[in-house]
Amino acid sequence: MLNQKTIEIIKSTVPVLEKHGETITTRFYQLMFGNHPELLNIFNHANQKQGRQQKALAGTVYAAAQYIDNLEAILPVVKQIAHKHRSLGIKAEHYPIVGKHLLLAIKDVLGDAASDEIINAWGEAYGVIADAFISVEAEMYVEAEKQQGGWDGFRSFVVDRKVKESDVITSFYLKPTDHKEIAHFLPGQYISIKLEIDGEEFTHIRQYSLSDAPGKDYYRISVKREAGTANPNGMVSNYLHDVVTEGEILKVSAPAGDFVLDTEKTTPVVLLSGGVGLTPMLSMLKTVVEVQPQRKVTFIHAAANGTVHALREEVETLTSLEHVNSFFFYDSPTEDDRKNNSFDVEGYVTQEWLVKNIPTVEADFYFCGPLPFMKSINRSLKDLGVNEDRIHFEFFGPKDSLEESVTKEPVSV
Ligand SMILES: Cc1cc2nc3c(=O)[nH]c(=O)nc-3n(C[C@H](O)[C@H](O)[C@H](O)COP(=O)(O)OP(=O)(O)OC[C@H]3O[C@@H](n4cnc5c(N)ncnc54)[C@H](O)[C@@H]3O)c2cc1C
Ligand code: HEM
Repeated sequence: MLNQKTIEIIKSTVPVLEKHGETITTRFYQLMFGNHPELLNIFNHANQKQGRQQKALAGTVYAAAQYIDNLEAILPVVKQIAHKHRSLGIKAEHYPIVGKHLLLAIKDVLGDAASDEIINAWGEAYGVIADAFISVEAEMYVEAEKQQGGWDGFRSFVVDRKVKESDVITSFYLKPTDHKEIAHFLPGQYISIKLEIDGEEFTHIRQYSLSDAPGKDYYRISVKREAGTANPNGMVSNYLHDVVTEGEILKVSAPAGDFVLDTEKTTPVVLLSGGVGLTPMLSMLKTVVEVQPQRKVTFIHAAANGTVHALREEVETLTSLEHVNSFFFYDSPTEDDRKNNSFDVEGYVTQEWLVKNIPTVEADFYFCGPLPFMKSINRSLKDLGVNEDRIHFEFFGPKDSLEESVTKEPVSV
């Protein structure tokens, strides 16, 4: 345990590090990848280029430091990150590498202001924070491997079926090549896929939510093609769409994630998605209908229009049931969409609409989609008085903040 003096140094220097937060972590990554290029096999290069991972890591180290004498208080945050780490294969031996380079970066950026006393205190604090992650992750590794149908690391799966779901989303049905059982998952969880792409120096790992209900002999993921406009095309999604065919082998890690539907609860549940954010919601919808047939469900999905609206028939089959309601929002419907009445509301999901249509603020709300969509839904739910512990969401990237001002950007699909 840290002594009082060290705790005081940490707490008093948090604001200084916070001020230089992103400069320090940017320097940290430069130094670390310089000395350990093999780690580029695990980190997402696009997130690096856009500074998204920098923000996430910086934020968490400082948050953890604020609670250095009471890390229990941030255990839920640690667990959420630990799920991601476990699904990527981050191991105890990686932590000293991160610690060493973080300290080097702090020294580099702060210069003389970083006295030995301060650096030593942060070294100790990092050790305590790292131990918290390592022990949570160790349990998760054991659980992932020892559970029925479980495994360690990445297991080979064959693409049994590849199905186009819309102009931009394609599903992949994955079965293990060893024909043995696969681990159960909770609706909302994701898997990581590791690709070795010809001509690429490093492997590329990405997460994909499981889009079907659990209990099948396959995992299904539904992937949106991320076309770069000004930027390069998304590496993995385009490879999956264009190159990976039925019969191809993919490396998959066991299901992970804490964004899961609580099927112990009987409260009404409202599932809201924008674009490809529908994948975990569809898994939740299918599950709740199967295991809690009496539970009231409202399924709200926003897409640009019918051409990019994936998996609608699966939703429609379920929403013919008495306890299930669905609403499709299109912000740019086509003429065909209008002719066929294929949407319920034109435009975005607004607070005014929610107030009239959600069953109760006592419902549990789950949402996922592009950042502007998530910010807008989060703000609306809070304004409507929904309790924070009934609001659940997933980011399809490193954790971000939903608290900034609401932008009226179009919902991308
Ligand atoms: C928990 C979780 C669940 C997810 N579930 C799903 C799912 O069910 N379905 C799904 O489709 N996706 C899902 N994702 C997202 C998925 O993991 C990938 O992030 C997504 O497929 C894009 O990966 P990519 O390799 O194609 O793009 P990347 O190569 O990672 O690029 C991402 C974005 O960055 C841009 N970019 C690339 N290089 C640069 C650069 N140099 N400068 C600026 N911008 C750049 C690209 O144009 C692209 O828009 C999920 C993510 C998480 C974390
Ligand atoms: C105490 C130390 C650490 C902290 C506080 C930390 C924090 C984080 C956070 C906040 C995220 C984003 C999670 C999300 O919302 O998706 C993350 C992801 C990640 N972490 Fe860590 N981490 C630590 C140690 C490590 C170590 C030791 C490694 C391996 C060398 C590592 C590799 C990764 C990778 C590869 C990702 C995903 C990044 C991406 O997709 O771009 N982390 N970590």
